[in-house]
Amino acid sequence: MAMSLIQACRSLALSTWLLSFCFVHLLCLDFTVAEKEEWYTAFVNITYAEPAPDPGAGAAGGGGTTAELHTEKTECGRYGEHSPKQDARGEVVMASSAHDRLACDPNTKFAAPAHGKNWIALIPKGNCTYRDKIRNAFLQNASAVVIFNVGSNTNETITMSHAGVEDIVAIMIPEPKGKEIVSLLERNITVTMYITIGTRNLQKYVSRTSVVFVSISFIVLMIISLAWLVFYYIQRFRYANARDRNQRRLGDAAKKAISKLQVRTIKKGDKETEPDFDNCAVCIEGYKPNDVVRILPCR
Ligand SMILES: *[C@@H]1O[C@H](CO)[C@@H](O)[C@H](O)[C@H]1NC(C)=O
Ligand SMILES: *[C@@H]1O[C@H](CO)[C@@H](O)[C@H](O)[C@H]1NC(C)=O
Ligand SMILES: *[C@@H]1O[C@H](CO)[C@@H](O)[C@H](O)[C@H]1NC(C)=O
Ligand SMILES: *[C@@H]1O[C@H](CO)[C@@H](O)[C@H](O)[C@H]1NC(C)=O
Ligand SMILES: *[C@@H]1O[C@H](CO)[C@@H](O)[C@H](O)[C@H]1NC(C)=O
Repeated sequence: MAMSLIQACRSLALSTWLLSFCFVHLLCLDFTVAEKEEWYTAFVNITYAEPAPDPGAGAAGGGGTTAELHTEKTECGRYGEHSPKQDARGEVVMASSAHDRLACDPNTKFAAPAHGKNWIALIPKGNCTYRDKIRNAFLQNASAVVIFNVGSNTNETITMSHAGVEDIVAIMIPEPKGKEIVSLLERNITVTMYITIGTRNLQKYVSRTSVVFVSISFIVLMIISLAWLVFYYIQRFRYANARDRNQRRLGDAAKKAISKLQVRTIKKGDKETEPDFDNCAVCIEGYKPNDVVRILPCR
């Protein structure tokens, strides 16, 4: 009874320990290992005057170039990590020459409007760091830098890292949007962009290495505790076995010892049959003739 109580206590302690261990691990994963990233989306409003459609086909109305004003606003941008989270606006421009589009060269010339007007540099991703591109535009007095993703034909954007160039608004927009603006600019259409701050996002992610680390340590500790459990039960089993064997041996020894004792048959007239003689110590009865008795030694 007492034994099983102790056992129950032990298993309870063990399972409690395992549970708290799992809990601590989860907390670890949550607080120290998981990294948090805060990022802001940007509303991108582009406004441009679409020239009269198809001047070649519209032969009849050659003179009336009614420019149609287009404006659209989407929350497709994402502020760079080191960019001030501010609004910005200006005319969108690219590098003057096509081979300088990537703006990796510090001497890149942008087709900036007349001095004093705000302009925004539109640069594709690639060949050098975001930081270099942003710095090159910043040094030429751009009021913001818009970098568009290239390669992945998706709507993805990332939070650009550009430590050191932190005084200029820098956002990233997805590739389709960038391509759209580039095609407008290539048609010599003046595009004005208004960048306004969108929503704040908090992203929590767990890096792969920390997941691996946590799982490995978890597995190792799990194995240790299992090994301990197995060891404990084996030990208990061996102990019970040894006790059984001991008892059996003791019983055998006792039988052997008893069989060695002298045996005598009581006959009529022996002093044990006298009425005032002591009773048999084992069966608490008087002796009768023909009883077979064992003589117990005094010590
Ligand atoms: C974009 O901004 C301009 C100027 O602030 C505004 O007139 C226009 O309505 C905006 N477009 C959209 C779709 O909000
Ligand atoms: C970008 O880099 C690649 C390889 O380094 C090179 O072939 C390519 O010409 C570069 N593009 C520009 C526009 O400089
Ligand atoms: C940038 O602006 C400063 C002052 O406003 C001016 O002195 C400088 O020449 C400008 N740089 C370029 C590349 O336009
Ligand atoms: C990108 O977004 C536009 C609309 O915002 C959608 O029509 C298009 O399918 C998306 N493309 C991809 C590859 O997700
Ligand atoms: C745009 O303007 C440039 C000169 O400013 C000219 O060389 C080019 O042909 C024009 N492109 C279109 C599509 O009109």
